[in-house]
Amino acid sequence: MQWNKVYHGDCDKILPQLENEGIVFDLILTDPPYNLNKDFGNATDQLSLEEFLSTTRVRLSICRNLLSNNGSIIWFGIHHYIGYIQVMMYELGLYYRRMNIWHYENGFSRSKKSPATQYEPFLWFSKSNAHWVYNADDVRVPYKSSSRLKTPVYYSGKDGARKAWQPNPNGSLRGDIWSFPTLAGKRFAKEKTDHPTQKPEALITELIKAYCPKNAEGKYEGTILDPFHGSGTLGVCCEKLNRQGHNIKWIGIELEEKWCNIANQRLSSVLNPD
Ligand SMILES: C[S@@+](CC[C@H](N)C(=O)[O-])C[C@H]1O[C@@H](n2cnc3c(N)ncnc32)[C@H](O)[C@@H]1O
Repeated sequence: MQWNKVYHGDCDKILPQLENEGIVFDLILTDPPYNLNKDFGNATDQLSLEEFLSTTRVRLSICRNLLSNNGSIIWFGIHHYIGYIQVMMYELGLYYRRMNIWHYENGFSRSKKSPATQYEPFLWFSKSNAHWVYNADDVRVPYKSSSRLKTPVYYSGKDGARKAWQPNPNGSLRGDIWSFPTLAGKRFAKEKTDHPTQKPEALITELIKAYCPKNAEGKYEGTILDPFHGSGTLGVCCEKLNRQGHNIKWIGIELEEKWCNIANQRLSSVLNPD
């Protein structure tokens, strides 16, 4: 297999090939079909619940085998079914780290019978229960209030002495709610492709920064897999980071030629800007 490439094919066939070749990934960051009846140009989002769960279990089991010793899986889902997937991950011997939330306020609702959807959960499980990568300082967020920076906060140190807490100039530690708007509307027209569930680059880049290993120079250097690559957001975000001097090796797999073509167009505009 070659790195930094979109593979046009079925991940149910390609994942076992990767396993046979002994390739391992530091991060599997993926946004699979949620089984909500979306039209990806195939029937992969329109399975019976039984089929959805059985295929998900096989995929997760191979993904587990593809992880490096310190590796993690970030798996997007939807509130309807995320509970089933979380249980599967426990059963497969992966270690729970966090149920994160992708939160957005610009979602679209047609129904008044239930609240508008404003989040999609994504599970973080690791291969080891002792070692994993989380670059907390790379994904700090601004403090909520500027008074945080002005008003000292005091606490008791281990020796009982009164200590003043100093704010971090790079902001507060990020929480597990990741707020990024969806690609709806005019302001994202340049980024948005025809793919029905394209993820925002800002969100995926932030996740790479949080979960990709780094080398001694502080550059991201790791292997990342997205078996449901869609319009290629993961590859595009990795290549944009690589152009800033990072060294991320990634592989994307996508069933539909149409989305592979869009992914390759997006990649070429990153790699050959005019
Ligand atoms: C939710 S979308 C991913 C969107 C992507 N994150 C983006 O930003 O464009 C899921 C994708 O998985 C693809 N897919 C479904 N089953 C697949 C399979 N067995 N192998 C590879 N790709 C598959 C679908 O065609 C769809 O494009």
